[in-house]
Order: sequence, then C-alpha cells, then structure tokens
Amino acid sequence: MILTMFSNLLLLFCFICHSGTPRAGTKLLHVTGKKGDSVILPCEFGARQISHFYLSSWSKTIYGCENEECESENGRVFKQGNCDVVIKDLSFSDAGKYVLRIYYNNAQSMLERLTLEYYLHIQDEISVKMGEELKLDVLLTDTEKVVHQNKMSSEWTVVWERRAGVRSDRLTVRDGNLTINELTVTDEGIYQVLDFDDEILITVTVTGSGTDSKENHTDDKTDDTKQVSALDWMIPNGMGFSLVVLCLTLILIMTRNHRIFRYIYFTFGYDYR
Ligand SMILES: *[C@@H]1O[C@H](CO)[C@@H](O)[C@H](O)[C@H]1NC(C)=O
Ligand SMILES: *[C@@H]1O[C@H](CO)[C@@H](O)[C@H](O)[C@H]1NC(C)=O
Repeated sequence: MILTMFSNLLLLFCFICHSGTPRAGTKLLHVTGKKGDSVILPCEFGARQISHFYLSSWSKTIYGCENEECESENGRVFKQGNCDVVIKDLSFSDAGKYVLRIYYNNAQSMLERLTLEYYLHIQDEISVKMGEELKLDVLLTDTEKVVHQNKMSSEWTVVWERRAGVRSDRLTVRDGNLTINELTVTDEGIYQVLDFDDEILITVTVTGSGTDSKENHTDDKTDDTKQVSALDWMIPNGMGFSLVVLCLTLILIMTRNHRIFRYIYFTFGYDYR
C-alpha cells in the first residue's frame, strides 16, 4: 500500500521532470487544436540552412521535406515558413506525440540534427439532444483511459480503461466508439482522454440540449469506487503539492541507490544524484 503510494509519487515526479525539462537536445511543446481546425507545430528555427526534415508520429513518418520538396501522406500536412508544420482539418486521431527531426548544416558545413517533440491535444465541444445517442471516437491506439467530470462536480471518474474496458454503466463500446446510449444530465460535462504517460490527448465538452431533464437524474448513483484520476495530482494545489515535493525530496535522499532511480536514469536520462 505505502509502496504503491510511493511508486505513484515517483511516477508523478518523473512526469513532472519529463514534461518540464525534456532530454538535453530536445524540446517538448504542448500544442492544442480544435477538431476541424488547423494547428501549427512551430519549429522556431530560422537561422540556418535546413537540408531536410521529417515529422513522425510514433514510428510512422507522416511528412517530410528535402530541399524544399515536401511530401505529405494525406495532403493535410504542409510546411509554413522555414520549418513550421501545419496540420489542417484536425480529427481526434491526430492527437498524441510527434517528433520533428531537422537536419541542417552548421557553420562548418557539417550536418547536424535538431529534434523537437510535440504533444498535440485535440479539443471539441459537442451538443446533443437529451435522450439521444452520442458516439465518441476517442479509443485511439494510444488511449489508456477516459475520465469524466460531471458538470456538477469537480471529481474525475474513470469511465473506460484499456485493461478493464468500460467502467460505467452509462457507456458501451460500439463500432470502436465509446457510446452514450441515451444522454442524460449526468453524462454531461468534460471527457478527457489520456495516454500511457497521462498526457491529455483529447478533451470533449458534452452538453445536452432540448428536454429539461432536471427531474431525471435519479438513475445514476452507480459507482462508489470512484477513482481519483492522475489529473488531480497534476493540478498543483498549494499545500498538498508542497508536501508531495517535500516527501519526494526525502525519499530521494533516503534511497539514492534504489533500483527505481537507476531505471529513471536510464529511461529518461536524468542524473538523479
Ligand atoms: C466510430 O463510428 C464511426 C461511424 O459512426 C466510424 O466511422 C468510426 O470508424 C468508428 N470509430 C472506430 C475507432 O472504429
Ligand atoms: C424524464 O422523465 C420523463 C418521465 O419520467 C420522461 O418522459 C422523459 O423522457 C425523461 N427525459 C429524459 C431526458 O430522460
């Protein structure tokens, strides 16, 4: 129990380090776009002659330029300026991590590489008539879990998890979509889709319209085992957060040579000593 708590804290610690200060030589940027709109992945690299660059998501290259000759897999991705990349007509499946590798000639005409990393977060607002079906096409290959915040509470509930599947009787999975069969007032609110690193892939705000359904929310006192999502940890809330940091510092001092720190070191390249 205590061990689990500590390892959770450590994971949180890694997360903070990882998103705050990525490995030397790489830069991590969080970019948000609205579904259907365009987004720019800025490279902010103008001074030198770029010979070629590639944008990949996970292992797949989706866009590449060589001496101003550019190629996009689906025509939705193009270059703007020196090496900014625009992705237009965003869909939920565009969410996630991207890596931009830029090869350029330095002052000595040697080829050098710069790597930039992006997390693309997709937002959407959906309004559905009360009582109607709502399909959320959010179960991507990177989706680890989906959490829901009812508009009347500040609590986050896990409604879908990769290993456990659907965790709420309000939802089913149909045609690969997370589906609310008949929207009620308890289904309204914010749905957040998180990946394996607890990064937010997608945020959907759902509102119901039409029927006044105030008297109809008796059917959903379902789940007493509500889970506190990792999001709650990520929001630094004053004292709690300071305590966590203090604890971590103590643990760090006490267990300098523990295996987990070697693991962190090798995985993320941080020197924890
Ligand atoms: C979700 O449903 C739509 C049709 O309503 C379908 O086009 C789409 O492929 C489904 N999503 C997945 C992940 O299968
Ligand atoms: C609310 O309840 C009434 C009857 O109890 C029903 O006719 C109506 O369709 C319900 N509305 C919703 C949105 O479920």
